[in-house]
Amino acid sequence: MTHDPDFSAPVRPVFPRPGEPLPLMGLYLNMALPDRGHFGPWVYSNFVATLDGRIAVAAPDSGRLGVPASIGDPRDWRLFQELAARADVLISSGRYFRDLRLGAAQDVLPLSSRAPFRDLHVWRRQQGLAPQPDVAILSASLDFHLPEALFRQGRRVTVLTTEAAPTEARRRLEASGANVVAVNDGPAVHGDAAVSHLGELGYARAYSVTGPYVLRSLLEAGALDTLFLTQRHRIVAGEHYSTIAEGETLAPPTDLVLESLYLDDSGAGAQQQFARFAVA
Ligand SMILES: NC(=O)c1ccc[n+]([C@@H]2O[C@H](COP(=O)([O-])OP(=O)(O)OC[C@H]3O[C@@H](n4cnc5c(N)ncnc54)[C@H](OP(=O)(O)O)[C@@H]3O)[C@@H](O)[C@H]2O)c1
Repeated sequence: MTHDPDFSAPVRPVFPRPGEPLPLMGLYLNMALPDRGHFGPWVYSNFVATLDGRIAVAAPDSGRLGVPASIGDPRDWRLFQELAARADVLISSGRYFRDLRLGAAQDVLPLSSRAPFRDLHVWRRQQGLAPQPDVAILSASLDFHLPEALFRQGRRVTVLTTEAAPTEARRRLEASGANVVAVNDGPAVHGDAAVSHLGELGYARAYSVTGPYVLRSLLEAGALDTLFLTQRHRIVAGEHYSTIAEGETLAPPTDLVLESLYLDDSGAGAQQQFARFAVA
Protein backbone atom coordinates (compact mmCIF):
# COMPACT_ATOMS: atom_id res chain seq x y z
CA MET A 1 0.00 0.00 0.00
CA THR A 2 1.35 3.47 -0.85
CA HIS A 3 0.68 6.44 1.41
CA ASP A 4 -0.01 9.90 0.08
CA PRO A 5 2.90 12.22 0.89
CA ASP A 6 2.46 14.79 3.64
CA PHE A 7 2.16 18.26 2.16
CA SER A 8 0.67 19.81 5.29
CA ALA A 9 3.86 21.18 6.90
CA PRO A 10 4.61 24.77 5.85
CA VAL A 11 7.84 26.25 4.45
CA ARG A 12 9.68 29.31 5.70
CA PRO A 13 10.39 32.30 3.41
CA VAL A 14 14.06 33.25 3.70
CA PHE A 15 14.62 35.59 0.71
CA PRO A 16 13.88 38.28 -0.43
CA ARG A 17 12.23 38.78 2.98
CA PRO A 18 12.14 36.32 5.90
CA GLY A 19 8.52 35.88 6.89
CA GLU A 20 5.81 33.78 8.50
CA PRO A 21 5.57 30.13 7.37
CA LEU A 22 3.58 29.53 4.17
CA PRO A 23 1.76 26.41 2.97
CA LEU A 24 3.78 24.20 0.63
CA MET A 25 0.73 23.58 -1.53
CA GLY A 26 0.23 26.52 -3.86
CA LEU A 27 3.75 27.92 -3.32
CA TYR A 28 4.66 27.72 -7.03
CA LEU A 29 1.11 27.37 -8.33
CA ASN A 30 0.25 30.88 -7.18
CA MET A 31 3.65 32.50 -7.77
CA ALA A 32 3.69 35.31 -10.37
CA LEU A 33 5.39 33.98 -13.52
CA PRO A 34 6.27 35.74 -16.77
CA ASP A 35 4.90 34.61 -20.12
CA ARG A 36 7.68 35.96 -22.34
CA GLY A 37 11.34 35.06 -22.40
CA HIS A 38 14.51 35.71 -24.37
CA PHE A 39 13.41 33.86 -27.52
CA GLY A 40 9.61 34.00 -27.23
CA PRO A 41 8.17 31.75 -24.56
CA TRP A 42 9.39 32.02 -20.98
CA VAL A 43 11.60 28.96 -20.43
CA TYR A 44 12.11 27.50 -16.99
CA SER A 45 13.59 24.35 -15.56
CA ASN A 46 13.67 22.59 -12.24
CA PHE A 47 16.12 20.22 -10.56
CA VAL A 48 16.49 18.53 -7.20
CA ALA A 49 20.09 18.10 -6.12
CA THR A 50 21.98 17.02 -3.03
CA LEU A 51 24.48 19.35 -1.36
CA ASP A 52 27.21 17.45 -3.20
CA GLY A 53 25.53 18.32 -6.50
CA ARG A 54 24.07 14.94 -7.48
CA ILE A 55 20.81 14.96 -9.46
CA ALA A 56 21.06 11.28 -10.47
CA VAL A 57 23.28 8.34 -9.57
CA ALA A 58 24.05 5.07 -11.35
CA ALA A 59 22.01 2.06 -10.23
CA PRO A 60 24.36 -0.56 -8.73
CA ASP A 61 22.93 -3.41 -10.87
CA SER A 62 22.45 -1.81 -14.33
CA GLY A 63 24.75 1.20 -14.10
CA ARG A 64 21.91 3.34 -15.51
CA LEU A 65 21.48 6.84 -14.16
CA GLY A 66 18.31 7.48 -12.19
CA VAL A 67 16.91 9.56 -9.35
CA PRO A 68 16.79 7.41 -6.20
CA ALA A 69 14.69 8.23 -3.10
CA SER A 70 17.88 9.48 -1.44
CA ILE A 71 17.84 12.43 -3.89
CA GLY A 72 14.20 12.90 -4.91
CA ASP A 73 11.65 14.03 -2.33
CA PRO A 74 7.82 13.97 -2.37
CA ARG A 75 7.52 17.59 -1.25
CA ASP A 76 9.88 18.70 -4.00
CA TRP A 77 7.85 16.55 -6.42
CA ARG A 78 4.75 18.48 -5.42
CA LEU A 79 6.45 21.73 -6.48
CA PHE A 80 7.70 20.08 -9.67
CA GLN A 81 4.08 19.22 -10.48
CA GLU A 82 2.90 22.73 -9.62
CA LEU A 83 5.42 24.14 -12.09
CA ALA A 84 4.18 21.66 -14.69
CA ALA A 85 0.63 22.88 -14.12
CA ARG A 86 1.81 26.36 -15.18
CA ALA A 87 3.27 25.17 -18.51
CA ASP A 88 1.88 25.25 -22.05
CA VAL A 89 4.54 22.81 -23.18
CA LEU A 90 7.01 20.49 -21.47
CA ILE A 91 10.50 20.13 -22.94
CA SER A 92 11.71 16.55 -22.71
CA SER A 93 14.44 14.44 -24.30
CA GLY A 94 14.99 11.27 -26.29
CA ARG A 95 16.62 9.87 -23.16
CA TYR A 96 13.43 10.34 -21.13
CA PHE A 97 11.39 8.21 -23.53
CA ARG A 98 14.08 5.52 -23.61
CA ASP A 99 14.03 5.46 -19.77
CA LEU A 100 10.24 5.33 -19.80
CA ARG A 101 10.32 2.13 -21.87
CA LEU A 102 12.75 0.57 -19.39
CA GLY A 103 10.61 1.66 -16.45
CA ALA A 104 13.51 3.82 -15.23
CA ALA A 105 11.90 7.28 -15.52
CA GLN A 106 10.85 9.01 -12.29
CA ASP A 107 7.16 9.22 -13.26
CA VAL A 108 5.06 9.59 -16.41
CA LEU A 109 5.34 13.06 -17.90
CA PRO A 110 3.38 15.40 -15.63
CA LEU A 111 0.72 16.32 -14.84
CA SER A 112 0.57 13.23 -12.69
CA SER A 113 -2.84 11.54 -12.55
CA ARG A 114 -2.22 10.47 -8.94
CA ALA A 115 -4.57 11.65 -6.19
CA PRO A 116 -2.21 14.19 -4.50
CA PHE A 117 -2.13 16.19 -7.75
CA ARG A 118 -5.82 16.16 -8.68
CA ASP A 119 -6.21 19.78 -7.59
CA LEU A 120 -3.71 20.78 -10.29
CA HIS A 121 -5.97 19.35 -13.01
CA VAL A 122 -8.87 21.34 -11.57
CA TRP A 123 -6.67 24.44 -11.49
CA ARG A 124 -5.77 24.07 -15.19
CA ARG A 125 -9.42 23.69 -16.09
CA GLN A 126 -10.25 26.85 -14.14
CA GLN A 127 -7.53 28.74 -16.01
CA GLY A 128 -8.93 27.59 -19.36
CA LEU A 129 -5.76 25.56 -20.08
CA ALA A 130 -5.64 22.21 -21.87
CA PRO A 131 -5.86 19.26 -19.45
CA GLN A 132 -2.18 18.43 -20.01
CA PRO A 133 0.69 20.55 -21.33
CA ASP A 134 1.90 19.68 -24.83
CA VAL A 135 5.27 17.98 -25.27
CA ALA A 136 8.44 19.02 -27.15
CA ILE A 137 11.29 16.53 -27.34
CA LEU A 138 14.93 17.35 -28.09
CA SER A 139 16.69 14.49 -29.82
CA ALA A 140 19.45 14.10 -32.38
CA SER A 141 19.27 10.31 -32.67
CA LEU A 142 15.44 10.01 -32.77
CA ASP A 143 16.10 6.64 -31.16
CA PHE A 144 12.97 6.47 -28.99
CA HIS A 145 9.30 5.52 -29.16
CA LEU A 146 6.35 7.60 -28.08
CA PRO A 147 3.75 6.14 -25.74
CA GLU A 148 0.29 6.11 -27.30
CA ALA A 149 -1.09 7.57 -24.04
CA LEU A 150 0.34 10.98 -24.94
CA PHE A 151 -1.88 11.19 -28.01
CA ARG A 152 -4.90 9.74 -26.19
CA GLN A 153 -4.54 12.66 -23.76
CA GLY A 154 -4.85 15.02 -26.74
CA ARG A 155 -1.34 16.43 -26.43
CA ARG A 156 0.49 17.92 -29.39
CA VAL A 157 3.91 16.26 -29.60
CA THR A 158 6.74 18.08 -31.41
CA VAL A 159 10.13 16.50 -31.89
CA LEU A 160 12.89 19.10 -32.29
CA THR A 161 15.87 17.71 -34.14
CA THR A 162 18.53 18.53 -36.74
CA GLU A 163 18.74 18.23 -40.55
CA ALA A 164 21.01 15.21 -39.99
CA ALA A 165 18.31 13.18 -38.17
CA PRO A 166 17.86 9.64 -39.54
CA THR A 167 15.03 9.57 -42.11
CA GLU A 168 13.66 6.18 -41.13
CA ALA A 169 13.24 7.15 -37.44
CA ARG A 170 11.76 10.46 -38.50
CA ARG A 171 9.07 8.71 -40.56
CA ARG A 172 8.33 6.28 -37.72
CA LEU A 173 7.77 9.13 -35.21
CA GLU A 174 5.62 11.05 -37.69
CA ALA A 175 3.54 7.91 -38.32
CA SER A 176 2.96 7.62 -34.57
CA GLY A 177 1.48 11.15 -34.55
CA ALA A 178 4.36 13.53 -33.75
CA ASN A 179 5.46 16.58 -35.74
CA VAL A 180 9.17 16.23 -36.39
CA VAL A 181 10.95 19.52 -37.08
CA ALA A 182 14.61 20.03 -37.99
CA VAL A 183 15.35 23.41 -36.42
CA ASN A 184 19.00 23.68 -37.52
CA ASP A 185 21.79 21.68 -39.12
CA GLY A 186 24.86 20.29 -37.31
CA PRO A 187 25.07 17.51 -34.72
CA ALA A 188 22.83 19.05 -32.02
CA VAL A 189 19.73 21.20 -31.64
CA HIS A 190 20.53 24.78 -30.69
CA GLY A 191 18.60 25.96 -27.66
CA ASP A 192 17.63 29.29 -29.24
CA ALA A 193 16.33 27.63 -32.45
CA ALA A 194 14.32 25.13 -30.37
CA VAL A 195 12.74 27.81 -28.19
CA SER A 196 12.03 30.13 -31.15
CA HIS A 197 10.16 27.27 -32.81
CA LEU A 198 8.07 26.78 -29.65
CA GLY A 199 7.24 30.50 -29.86
CA GLU A 200 6.07 30.04 -33.46
CA LEU A 201 3.75 27.29 -32.23
CA GLY A 202 2.15 29.86 -29.92
CA TYR A 203 3.45 28.71 -26.54
CA ALA A 204 3.96 31.30 -23.80
CA ARG A 205 5.56 29.10 -21.11
CA ALA A 206 7.88 26.17 -21.71
CA TYR A 207 9.03 23.99 -18.81
CA SER A 208 12.15 21.91 -19.33
CA VAL A 209 11.61 18.75 -17.29
CA THR A 210 14.55 16.84 -18.62
CA GLY A 211 18.20 16.54 -17.72
CA PRO A 212 21.63 18.13 -17.81
CA TYR A 213 22.38 17.97 -21.55
CA VAL A 214 19.20 19.75 -22.55
CA LEU A 215 19.81 22.28 -19.77
CA ARG A 216 23.32 22.89 -21.11
CA SER A 217 21.96 23.45 -24.64
CA LEU A 218 19.49 25.99 -23.30
CA LEU A 219 22.15 27.74 -21.20
CA GLU A 220 24.68 27.88 -24.02
CA ALA A 221 22.15 29.65 -26.23
CA GLY A 222 20.98 31.98 -23.45
CA ALA A 223 17.54 30.43 -23.88
CA LEU A 224 16.83 29.54 -20.23
CA ASP A 225 15.07 32.33 -18.34
CA THR A 226 14.58 30.86 -14.87
CA LEU A 227 15.96 27.94 -12.87
CA PHE A 228 14.12 26.42 -9.91
CA LEU A 229 16.59 24.45 -7.81
CA THR A 230 15.76 22.34 -4.79
CA GLN A 231 18.80 21.53 -2.71
CA ARG A 232 18.41 18.78 -0.19
CA HIS A 233 20.62 19.26 2.84
CA ARG A 234 22.14 15.85 2.31
CA ILE A 235 25.38 14.43 0.95
CA VAL A 236 25.31 11.11 -0.91
CA ALA A 237 28.76 10.83 -2.64
CA GLY A 238 29.18 7.96 -5.16
CA GLU A 239 31.42 7.71 -8.23
CA HIS A 240 28.97 7.68 -11.13
CA TYR A 241 26.48 10.50 -11.09
CA SER A 242 25.05 13.42 -12.97
CA THR A 243 24.83 17.06 -11.99
CA ILE A 244 22.49 19.79 -13.26
CA ALA A 245 24.53 20.68 -16.36
CA GLU A 246 26.84 18.29 -18.23
CA GLY A 247 28.89 18.47 -21.42
CA GLU A 248 31.53 20.92 -22.56
CA THR A 249 32.47 23.86 -20.35
CA LEU A 250 30.15 26.81 -20.81
CA ALA A 251 32.14 29.77 -22.10
CA PRO A 252 31.10 32.24 -20.89
CA PRO A 253 29.61 30.62 -17.78
CA THR A 254 25.98 31.34 -16.91
CA ASP A 255 25.42 33.64 -13.93
CA LEU A 256 22.17 33.53 -12.00
CA VAL A 257 20.43 35.90 -9.61
CA LEU A 258 18.53 34.60 -6.59
CA GLU A 259 14.88 35.67 -6.73
CA SER A 260 13.33 33.68 -3.91
CA LEU A 261 14.33 31.11 -1.31
CA TYR A 262 12.23 28.98 1.06
CA LEU A 263 13.48 26.62 3.77
CA ASP A 264 11.62 23.33 4.12
CA ASP A 265 12.22 22.06 7.63
CA SER A 266 9.23 19.72 7.89
CA GLY A 267 11.21 17.23 9.96
CA ALA A 268 10.22 14.32 7.68
CA GLY A 269 13.75 13.74 6.35
CA ALA A 270 16.61 15.97 5.31
CA GLN A 271 15.94 19.71 5.30
CA GLN A 272 15.76 21.23 1.85
CA GLN A 273 15.69 24.67 0.29
CA PHE A 274 13.61 25.76 -2.69
CA ALA A 275 15.36 28.46 -4.73
CA ARG A 276 14.30 30.40 -7.80
CA PHE A 277 17.04 31.99 -9.92
CA ALA A 278 16.77 34.31 -12.90
CA VAL A 279 19.40 33.86 -15.59
CA ALA A 280 21.38 37.10 -15.53
N1 LIG B 1 17.21 15.32 -10.04
C1 LIG B 1 16.63 15.97 -11.02
O1 LIG B 1 16.01 17.04 -10.79
C2 LIG B 1 16.69 15.48 -12.41
C3 LIG B 1 16.08 16.22 -13.44
C4 LIG B 1 16.17 15.76 -14.75
C5 LIG B 1 16.85 14.59 -15.02
N2 LIG B 1 17.41 13.89 -14.01
C6 LIG B 1 18.17 12.65 -14.28
O2 LIG B 1 19.38 12.99 -14.89
C7 LIG B 1 19.86 11.83 -15.52
C8 LIG B 1 20.65 12.20 -16.73
O3 LIG B 1 19.86 12.70 -17.79
P1 LIG B 1 20.54 12.74 -19.25
O4 LIG B 1 22.02 12.75 -19.06
O5 LIG B 1 20.01 11.67 -20.09
O6 LIG B 1 20.16 14.19 -19.80
P2 LIG B 1 19.01 14.77 -20.72
O7 LIG B 1 19.44 16.16 -20.98
O8 LIG B 1 17.68 14.53 -20.11
O9 LIG B 1 18.96 13.91 -22.05
C9 LIG B 1 20.02 13.77 -22.91
C10 LIG B 1 19.42 13.45 -24.26
O10 LIG B 1 18.69 14.59 -24.73
C11 LIG B 1 18.89 14.78 -26.09
N3 LIG B 1 19.56 16.06 -26.22
C12 LIG B 1 20.11 16.84 -25.26
N4 LIG B 1 20.57 17.98 -25.77
C13 LIG B 1 20.33 17.92 -27.10
C14 LIG B 1 20.58 18.78 -28.19
N5 LIG B 1 21.19 19.95 -28.01
N6 LIG B 1 20.21 18.39 -29.41
C15 LIG B 1 19.59 17.22 -29.62
N7 LIG B 1 19.32 16.34 -28.63
C16 LIG B 1 19.68 16.70 -27.39
C17 LIG B 1 19.74 13.63 -26.58
O11 LIG B 1 18.81 12.67 -27.05
P3 LIG B 1 19.15 11.60 -28.20
O12 LIG B 1 20.19 10.70 -27.57
O13 LIG B 1 17.85 10.93 -28.43
O14 LIG B 1 19.71 12.33 -29.38
C18 LIG B 1 20.44 13.17 -25.32
O15 LIG B 1 20.76 11.82 -25.31
C19 LIG B 1 18.67 10.93 -15.77
O16 LIG B 1 18.80 9.77 -14.97
C20 LIG B 1 17.49 11.74 -15.27
O17 LIG B 1 16.52 10.95 -14.63
C21 LIG B 1 17.37 14.32 -12.73
